[in-house]
Amino acid sequence: MRRVGILLSGRGSNFEAIARNVRAGRLDAEIAVVISNRAEAPGVETARSLGLTALAIPSRGLEREAYDQKLIEALKQHGVELVVLAGYMRLLSPAFIREFPMRIVNIHPSLLPAFPGLDAQHQAFDYGVRVSGCTVHFVDEHLDHGPIILQSAVEVAADDTAETLSARILAEEHKIYSEAIGIVLSGAFRIDGRRVKLENRNHAS
Ligand code: GAR
Repeated sequence: MRRVGILLSGRGSNFEAIARNVRAGRLDAEIAVVISNRAEAPGVETARSLGLTALAIPSRGLEREAYDQKLIEALKQHGVELVVLAGYMRLLSPAFIREFPMRIVNIHPSLLPAFPGLDAQHQAFDYGVRVSGCTVHFVDEHLDHGPIILQSAVEVAADDTAETLSARILAEEHKIYSEAIGIVLSGAFRIDGRRVKLENRNHAS
């Protein structure tokens, strides 16, 4: 399995980090297509400037199921085997998830199950946590919920603001997302309930 489809809604820095790792030969994958639900997402421009196929499929005004059918069609047309959510700010329908069982991954800017949902870095900062971080997980039908592939912890410094904390979490996101995608594409893992058991690695599992 090598063909990856990226879904994004905005800036696209996680996508860009993945694309650079692919280009540098650090991640054995092929980005088959990048799709944004917002035509104005900067990630679309970035993808095109990197010579990748990028589609804007606007979601505005469409029911979730109808929109997701369009997405499924486009992903299948491009032979996508693994769907990578990179700042994709829409919930996926159960039908979409059934179409790609354990073949959808997401990155979330907190140590799940803490602070699911929007603006996780601010939620964590406002809560007063000493440690936050990011999580890459398989996507299931619940929000920010599926089995966890990798996490990285980031300490909160005394002089942090939500913005400086977010920036350090983002730097970790850029590292662990490619690593997690590499694990999933290589098939060197198995899923036991909620636990993702990684083969040949030192990660606790
Ligand atoms: C990232 O911080 C990602 O973890 C977050 O959106 C940002 C997208 O940035 N995703 C979520 O909050 C999903 N629940 P990017 O467009 O620069 O990759």
